[in-house]
Amino acid sequence: MLNIILFGPPGSGKGTQSEKLIAQYGLKHLSTGDLLRSEIAAQTPLGIEAKAIMDKGHLVPDEVVIGMISSALEANPTANGFLFDGFPRTEAQSIALDGLLELKNTEIALVLSLEVSEEELVKRLLQRGLTSGRSDDTNENVIRARIVEYHKKTSVVADYYKKFDKVKNIKGEGTVDEIFNALSEEVNKFSL
Ligand code: AP5
Repeated sequence: MLNIILFGPPGSGKGTQSEKLIAQYGLKHLSTGDLLRSEIAAQTPLGIEAKAIMDKGHLVPDEVVIGMISSALEANPTANGFLFDGFPRTEAQSIALDGLLELKNTEIALVLSLEVSEEELVKRLLQRGLTSGRSDDTNENVIRARIVEYHKKTSVVADYYKKFDKVKNIKGEGTVDEIFNALSEEVNKFSL
């Protein structure tokens, strides 16, 4: 089983590269952003509460996303491995994820960290906001609040996994294929 975290700030290309990585390596994609947007679309109480938080660019409480990931792991007992996208986003989420994987006698093998300049992130997200329908992409202040939240609460996740020597930094600017090749080079070092 191969478990990978695709890490990086908002707009760094996690969703784009996840699609390619799961197709190439047969991993199960778990994106907490996508799971939350499904709850919003279904207008569940969780979705309504989460939307108000996401529209400010803030993080949804740890217990909510940890619960979603725990259910998703349970729901996929035969997966070859998981690609985590947008999770974990705090140290508490990292510790919880390690515990959940330990229960399945497995662990995170690799954290791929995409590095993109702030101006490029803002440019990409404003551009996507023109067509995506994502309310957190249409306002530059909200986009910048998401990036601030990343620096305040999420960048520590990389520090957490660096202690276990699991982090590889990957340049997240260039063509989608160039970045995918750089990511694949790291994944190929592990046997599937
Ligand atoms: P989430 O859905 O995880 O969004 P995000 O981290 O803000 O990331 P994005 O989806 O915006 O960007 P991405 O890195 O996936 O890049 P993408 O490939 O889409 O989270 C949304 C919200 O949910 C959070 O703010 C929070 O409120 C909540 N949430 C989610 N998870 C949570 C958690 N664990 N804990 C607490 N709260 C949580 O690309 C972006 C754009 O750039 C696209 O238009 C794409 O086409 C383009 N692009 C991609 N690659 C390139 C390239 N190489 N060159 C040019 N353009 C490119």
